[in-house]
Amino acid sequence: MTATIGIDGKTAEYPVHQGSVGPEVIDIRKLYGNTGRFTFDPGFTSTASCESKITYIDGDQGILLHRGYPIEQLAEQSSFLEVAYLLLNGDLPSQTEHDEFKYLITRHTMVHEQLATFYRGFRRDAHPMAVMCGVVGALSAFYHDSTDIHDPKQREIACHRLIAKMPTIAAMAYKYSVGQPFLYPDNSLSYTGNFLRMTFGVPAEPYIINPVVEDALDKIFILHADHEQNASTSTVRLAGSSGANPFACIAAGIACLWGPAHGGANEAALEMLRTIGRPERIPEFIARAKNKDDPFRLMGFGHRVYKNYDPRAKVLGAAATKVLDTLGISDPVLDTARELERIALSDDYFIEKKLYPNVDFYSGIILSAIGFPTSMFTALFALARTTGWIAQWTEMMEDKEQKIGRPRQLYTGHPRRDYVPLNQRG
Ligand code: ACO
Repeated sequence: MTATIGIDGKTAEYPVHQGSVGPEVIDIRKLYGNTGRFTFDPGFTSTASCESKITYIDGDQGILLHRGYPIEQLAEQSSFLEVAYLLLNGDLPSQTEHDEFKYLITRHTMVHEQLATFYRGFRRDAHPMAVMCGVVGALSAFYHDSTDIHDPKQREIACHRLIAKMPTIAAMAYKYSVGQPFLYPDNSLSYTGNFLRMTFGVPAEPYIINPVVEDALDKIFILHADHEQNASTSTVRLAGSSGANPFACIAAGIACLWGPAHGGANEAALEMLRTIGRPERIPEFIARAKNKDDPFRLMGFGHRVYKNYDPRAKVLGAAATKVLDTLGISDPVLDTARELERIALSDDYFIEKKLYPNVDFYSGIILSAIGFPTSMFTALFALARTTGWIAQWTEMMEDKEQKIGRPRQLYTGHPRRDYVPLNQRG
């Protein structure tokens, strides 16, 4: 199939590609050559930047599939490490493949001892995302033997190192901020159990893992593992398109994820719920969200792609109740969240604009109940999303059509003008 695009009385045919599911795309790579015109698409709302086989989202239906598997099934039945394998390799592992992958990841959990010195250069009150950005970027200075992006074996080792070391790096960022000693990983534990121990354990006593907490956190990691070509993933791909090493690319992804419109929204959502404080104050905040002159937005609501309930928010809404019940925590914030959701979903403004709770709406409540400070929320997101980032980066590196990413622009600045020496300017 082709699409006909005509301009200045001249028309040309452009190929239309059909994905396995989802909308067709018009291949406009020859448009500039044929017409001398670019397309204008700020925010890329109508642009597919690459071909991918990893994640599929139907935002209207509220569907999220990883390698074809629905996110609800993965969250209920799989584990984070298995999902990481799936994202990277394309299929669920056999038992042997699973055990081998677990062994590989477990063997890479420690970080270079000198990295601890690197942490000590930060102020104790540094935001964990600032620390994560710096430390992950610095990994390329510690692991030179896995930065040759043209060697598939080195690429694979770098991927394993990143998945394995992120929990250690995030836990160290937390430990540094509270002034406690860093804990070495314990490779006999699960991926998530090990992270919990490195975060909340102390060398002076054994750390007992609560299986409900371990399971809830593992679910949160699964739900954040990948999400197609979102801002941070596109950043990783764009950084990687120039040939930058994977550690530098993931550091770029972390920087992008930090923003409150993206990964930082879970922190902002919980802060907003705490500010609202009690269900009676909700109408005041709904009114502010609707007011065009007020920059306030309901954090944890709305999504660029989902124009329906974010399937990840559904899983987390149920998990929040389970975790709080099991831990015996009665947090009024959960009541406020449920009531805010109920009111917003029946309000014309939110219905018309198709604004539903997103993944960040409930995740903060669970993380807070587990004991994480809000400043760690986005760091946990980065930990989980690293698997998606490296799966997408690997896919790009193996793509024969991959080119350096280089968008063009609609220039609205001055046309050419001549330089005027300082003493001659009016
Ligand atoms: N509260 C109130 N109004 C909203 C909200 C919100 N949370 N989100 C969107 N709107 C309104 C906008 O004001 C706009 O109204 P208008 O058409 O009258 O101008 C309309 O809905 C469309 O909003 P856009 O910003 O154009 O939509 P976009 O797709 O660009 O933005 C985004 C999506 C950034 C996620 C937005 O919904 C938002 O800021 N949400 C709050 C932050 C948040 O929760 N981010 C997490 C996203 S999920 C993730 O990154 C993991």
